[in-house]
Parts: sequence; structure tokens; C-alpha cells
Amino acid sequence: MSVHISAKKGEIAKTVLMPGDPLRAKYIADNFLTDVTLVSKTRNVFFFTGKYKGKEITVGASGMGFPSIGIYSYELFTEYEVDTIIRIGTCGAYATDLKLFDILNVEKAASESTYAKFAWEIEEEAISNQGDAFDKINQTASELNLNVKSTNIHSSDIFYRKNPTVPAIAEKYNCLAVEMEAFALFANAKYLGKNAATILTVSDIIPTKEEISADQREQALRTMMELSLETALK
Ligand code: HPA
Repeated sequence: MSVHISAKKGEIAKTVLMPGDPLRAKYIADNFLTDVTLVSKTRNVFFFTGKYKGKEITVGASGMGFPSIGIYSYELFTEYEVDTIIRIGTCGAYATDLKLFDILNVEKAASESTYAKFAWEIEEEAISNQGDAFDKINQTASELNLNVKSTNIHSSDIFYRKNPTVPAIAEKYNCLAVEMEAFALFANAKYLGKNAATILTVSDIIPTKEEISADQREQALRTMMELSLETALK
């Protein structure tokens, strides 16, 4: 057990897929895994360990924002000997050159957040994905004939803001989209020498206010789920 995860040692696989939402973790376990065990439900943040095509994989939620993914990813890396975390989430596009349902593989996450600086004395504003998971995602995407775009994204603390223009840091690092977790995940992995990647599906286009409807969401996210599962086999 760790402070926020009640699984026993050995009940978490070396590779963990992390959606933000606990129910999405359950969806992946129900629809893609066999031999599934619910290994932690502390705070209703579900972690399931099962098999995908014979390989043991854990899916568990990160919750929203840097504090939440910071806690779960740190405990997975340090208390459960996890090697690789692949976040699978949604993002808002800053411009109309991305379309709804586009899938992104994150090169760097740029942020105004002080998380990396105060946690680990990492001074960069833009932190790269860590290790080889990013390359494995691109390799898997090409094998599956999926169009996946490698790009920088903005990781923000803010969902609602007064001024909807693109923040300066997103301009500076040419970030096409915004989410709220990758920067802290990459910071933890960088400090600990682990592998971390983030796959995102565009769920809204900020300037036009288009968004994926609630009933389109499940099907839309299945492609990203399959991409992450196939990557985890590598
Ligand atoms: N902002 C931040 N995170 C998000 C968004 C957004 O517009 N859409 C999906 N995740």
C-alpha cells in the first residue's frame, strides 16, 4: 500500500495506462482486459490490473490536474516499481488547424506551473516526454495506420479563465492544444528516470466552441485506448 493507492506490492503491472477519469479506467478494464482484478479503489480512483493479449497491464485514473497526477504517478513509480506510465486524455485545441477526434502524441508539455521547480528543482518551462514510450506510440500508430500528430502542448492549471486568448507560454512553445496533467507526469518521470508519454484526443476546439458530445466520447476515445494498449505490448 502507498498513501493514496491500496494495492499490494506486486499487484500493479510495470506499465500503467492512465486516463483522467476513474470510469474510463473501468471502461478499458471491462472492454479490453481479461483476468481483471480491482486492485485499488481508495477515493474511488480505481486501478485495475488485467491482461491484454496475454500481457499484464494496469489501468488507473490520474484524476484532474498536476497535484492529482503528481501524487498517483509518483507513488506508482516509487512504491510499485512501475517503469512506464502512458497518460491517455483529452485536450482543447487552441486553433482550428486541429479537428475534433485528432490524436496527439505529446513531445513537450509547456507550463507556467511551478510544480517541477518546487518539487524537483527542474527549471524548464517545457518538459519532454521521457524514455522510449513516445517512439513506441508513433511506431504502433504507423503499424495500425493511425494518423497521430507529434506536437507540443500546454499543460495548464486553469480550465476557466477571464481572457480566452492563447496564453503566452502556449505561443512561445508552439503548443497546439491544452490539457492539465502531462507536465507533472513528465516532471516526475524525469526526476525518477522513468518512462512517460501522453496521448491526447482533441475533445474541443476552443475558438469555435465545438466539442465531442457525451455519446460520441466513448467511441472517440476507443482509438486512443487501443493505441495505448498496443503500445504497452512493446
Ligand atoms: N482546457 C484544459 N483541459 C482540457 C480542455 C481544455 O479546454 N479540454 C480537454 N481538456
